[in-house]
Amino acid sequence: MPFKTLLAIAALATVAVAVPATTDATCSKGRTAKNAACCKWFDVLDDIQVNLFDGGECGEETHESLRLTFHDAIGFSLSALVEGKFGGGGADGSIMAFSEIETNFHANNGVDEIVEAQRPFAIKHGVSFGDFIQFAGAVGVSNCVGGPRLQFLAGRSNNSQVAPDLTVPEPSDSPNKIFLRMLDAGFTPNEVVALLASHSVAAQDHVDESIPGTPFDSTPGTFDTQFFAETMLKGTLFPGDGPNDGEVLSPLHGEFRLQSDAAIARHPLTSCEWQSFVTDHDTMIKKFTAAMAKLSTLGHIPALLTDCSEVIPTPKPPKVKKATLPAGKTNKDIEGACGATPFPTLATDPGPATSVAPVPPS
Ligand code: HEM
Ligand SMILES: *[C@@H]1O[C@H](CO)[C@@H](O)[C@H](O)[C@H]1NC(C)=O
Repeated sequence: MPFKTLLAIAALATVAVAVPATTDATCSKGRTAKNAACCKWFDVLDDIQVNLFDGGECGEETHESLRLTFHDAIGFSLSALVEGKFGGGGADGSIMAFSEIETNFHANNGVDEIVEAQRPFAIKHGVSFGDFIQFAGAVGVSNCVGGPRLQFLAGRSNNSQVAPDLTVPEPSDSPNKIFLRMLDAGFTPNEVVALLASHSVAAQDHVDESIPGTPFDSTPGTFDTQFFAETMLKGTLFPGDGPNDGEVLSPLHGEFRLQSDAAIARHPLTSCEWQSFVTDHDTMIKKFTAAMAKLSTLGHIPALLTDCSEVIPTPKPPKVKKATLPAGKTNKDIEGACGATPFPTLATDPGPATSVAPVPPS
């Protein structure tokens, strides 16, 4: 066919496909998706909001699901790949597929609970374990007031390989050890700080087993910046039977402080980034969202996945209060660590010093 004819056909074809408006696929309950492959995720959403997240709460299952996104994905090592060894497949669902191995790793203590709570939903809806874990984390955190609307890409293979041990950081690890491990997975120290915004909606069960549900800040149901402020307070007490391995003094009754959080908050590489989030919820959310987009696609080529982010609910309006100091504390109790840059002056909550309540088990 002569080249001119081809050109003419191409021109016609362009006109022909340009005419019909691109129509979104119609999904259940009249919802639409740009890609029909995303429709099934609306059904997964409906199911897990009611039956996993207790009607859309930012409670224990949400916290555990967010933690699980990390513990599955971080089984990924660039240096192992360079050495020609298998360093884990990243966000591939291996923590669920090989739970009998991975949940026995010391750093994964307690994740078996959420793995087994999630598994039947993934199987029922016929979605891969890798996709499901990242989807549940994104939906869960959208239930938290002030939370991010995370990206969700679908299409991870259901074939995974068991991750090697020691890819998940421990709270007793030094910041340098954590930074090196995270760099090996592709994250800068400042990106680690951004990821630790997750500890704003978090509690411990297994560092001190005598006080399950003890949160890392005073507002574990809200994705606010309190965590970044409260970790800078001088530690004064152990909330349970501490000190335990990976635990340091906490500033409040009923609040738990991980050694790693305290040390990263005061480390020369990260202390200023840490402090900057105290009064900047927007930037904290923006950087957390960006780092989670990386985390959730470790081991994958994002361009080969399908963007189903539109299925993720828009979080409740980010009407989070500005960071304050808990009742009884003043700026004098802050251990500023960002060189000459002073810690921002925060108002103190009124009333007598209070105790932080545990996150109720569900
Ligand atoms: C970088 C080093 C990190 C260390 C050393 C660390 C350590 C821990 C520890 C020890 C716990 C308590 C577990 C228990 O006793 O039940 C915990 C909880 C949690 N972590 Fe991390 N973490 C890190 C990073 C992350 C990241 C990157 C995320 C998510 C993006 C994350 C999300 C969470 C959440 C949501 C919880 C609360 C779980 C619950 O309340 O049930 N963590 N973390
Ligand atoms: C994924 O693999 C698990 C076994 O590891 C299996 O139970 C599940 O049905 C598989 N899901 C899909 C969608 O193939």
